[in-house]
Amino acid sequence: MHEKANIDNSIDRAICPPIDRAIDRQAFRFCVAPMMDWTDRHDRYFLRLISRHARLYTEMVTADAVRFGCRDRLLGFDKAEHPLGLQLGGSEPDALAEAAQIGESYGYDEINLNIGCPSHRVQSGRFGACLMQEPQLVAACVAAMRAAVKIPISIKCRLGVDEQEPREALFELVAQTAAAGCHIFIVHARKAWLSGLNPRQNRDIPPLDYELVYELKKTYPNLTIILNGGIETLEAARAHMPHVDGVMLGRAAYKRPYMLAEVDSLFYGDRRKPPSREAIICALIPYAENLVRQNVPLSALTRHLMGLYAGQPGGRMWRRWLSENAPRAKADVRFLSKLVTAMKTQFARTDSQALNGKTQTHESRAQESQIHESHAHSSQPHELQTHELQAALAL
Ligand SMILES: Cc1cc2nc3c(=O)[nH]c(=O)nc-3n(C[C@H](O)[C@H](O)[C@H](O)COP(=O)(O)O)c2cc1C
Repeated sequence: MHEKANIDNSIDRAICPPIDRAIDRQAFRFCVAPMMDWTDRHDRYFLRLISRHARLYTEMVTADAVRFGCRDRLLGFDKAEHPLGLQLGGSEPDALAEAAQIGESYGYDEINLNIGCPSHRVQSGRFGACLMQEPQLVAACVAAMRAAVKIPISIKCRLGVDEQEPREALFELVAQTAAAGCHIFIVHARKAWLSGLNPRQNRDIPPLDYELVYELKKTYPNLTIILNGGIETLEAARAHMPHVDGVMLGRAAYKRPYMLAEVDSLFYGDRRKPPSREAIICALIPYAENLVRQNVPLSALTRHLMGLYAGQPGGRMWRRWLSENAPRAKADVRFLSKLVTAMKTQFARTDSQALNGKTQTHESRAQESQIHESHAHSSQPHELQTHELQAALAL
């Protein structure tokens, strides 16, 4: 099925693997993390409307699911989602090679191997983060996939697991797998504890060590090194850029997706004006109509839109309104355009409140500052209330 892995354990050879000319390093400057149940195809389509360039990844799919499962359901995507990586889970070289080949035939731009997930289910299948302890096996998997496909292979890993010494574990994994043909590493910059912490805790509790990832990049300048873990803002993301080739954001990008609107200019030098939030919703309407035609519930899309107005006046109302009304709308896509109108009304109100505040008395300025204060906190008295909005939308 595949050429046998030619794994050279010599660190010297791995330190300077040849530059892989097929890899466009620039393309990895900003990535959105693979997230199970979150970054499905609908979410990715939505994110792509916000950023043309951010690199997107699928949720993890096991090699066997790709080989034996319903491929179109697991692997299907819209061509607008490019550039897009397929994340695979597995530890059998032949199975991974076959799954990678299938992924390539579906048109993915990259195959990413998950060496970072600490869940028990994944451990029992002997893949994910526990493979940090088996660099030779991972290298064999890489070699098999490398021989099977032309698109780049990447690894998403941790600094180590359990009692492993992070520098040893990470550098050993990179040395062995780079020699086997993987030249892109996404490093979640913390260890994982395979027992004692659940996956959620494993995303927060083990301390971050960004410096070690910077050091990895210094040691392997020819490799593409992407930093992941705990990056909350674009400002923080940019601060890492002198030290690594790219950053990957997970939860922050999902919860505040409109942060991606600035990614194209800040990370890719593309100065085109990003679309407004309202334009994004409008652009989703034909997509939503298509879902309805395929009998996919609209909530499969709208559940990913909750954070679109995060941090904005109206953000809380938007969430509430979506969660209350999207299920009711069933197949009525028009509610999205009604919602755009409602949000515009909301903004017009907020703007006029702010404008009035400029020319008014001390007392009304105090009121305005109360309004601004309320934007940041939970109660937002200036917002349209659900009943007002429903009346406005005639729902
Ligand atoms: C809901 C959820 C699901 C995740 N699923 C995956 C996954 O399928 N594959 C993977 O490699 N990492 C997965 N992760 C981990 C993220 O890719 C990322 O490494 C982690 O959240 C740290 O990045 P962040 O601090 O920017 O969120 C998941 C994270 C979350 C929150």
